[in-house]
Amino acid sequence: MNVVVTENYEEMSVAAANVIAEQLKAKPDSVLGLATGTTPIGLYAELVRACDAGEISFANAQSFNLDEYRGLPGTHDQSYRYFMQNNLFNHVDIDVEKTHVPDGSMEDAQAACDAYEQAIAQAGGVDLQLLGLGHNGHIGFNEPCDSFPVTTHCVELTESTIQANSRLFDSADEVPREAYTMGIGTIMKARKILLVVNGAGKAEIVRDVLRGPVVPQVPASILQLHPDVTVVLDKEAAAAL
Ligand code: F6R
Repeated sequence: MNVVVTENYEEMSVAAANVIAEQLKAKPDSVLGLATGTTPIGLYAELVRACDAGEISFANAQSFNLDEYRGLPGTHDQSYRYFMQNNLFNHVDIDVEKTHVPDGSMEDAQAACDAYEQAIAQAGGVDLQLLGLGHNGHIGFNEPCDSFPVTTHCVELTESTIQANSRLFDSADEVPREAYTMGIGTIMKARKILLVVNGAGKAEIVRDVLRGPVVPQVPASILQLHPDVTVVLDKEAAAAL
């Protein structure tokens, strides 16, 4: 693993955005795997800046997001589709038809997941997958469990994730109880992975993920087995390494 430690959130965001920018320059028709959450907001802003400045273009790229709440349409302001439109897609030259987020409004969960997995395969697989890290080691909505989930699937959110995400809703009662997420197998098939983490609150889980045993109770620990991972941390997140 290539671990990059930066001074602060801003430097982390620029360093991580540069990895995506380099990918787009090397392969303009890249298939990007994207994430939501608070961590990537700064890096998306940097990508918007770079696109505005003519340094990069998303015109030939495609994207697949990691996850989406089940039951929320893309127009809901807490849906991950909405987040992506607001933070990236509306501000760069990507063709919105080539951006994919699991369809939270599809009622048939199995059909939604199968269609997503198939669409990724048809696009030729993900070239670079961006990941944030949950406090419990989750990636996407792959929560700690007894075995690594392989493909895109529907998950019941754990109480701790519902609580953590409730800051974004009016109350915890409004947070959807289920989500669609790429599986660990889907994520591990990406040709390159970019894990971005900031903040002192994640220092211990970063240590467990990067230095601890590879176990499904720490889902992101599987990344130790991936051949091409870049980890970009701010110094607070790197403090326990
Ligand atoms: C979001 C996702 C989640 C987040 C993780 C960290 O698409 O897949 O796994 O990356 O929960 O979230 P933040 O960045 O809000 O701390």
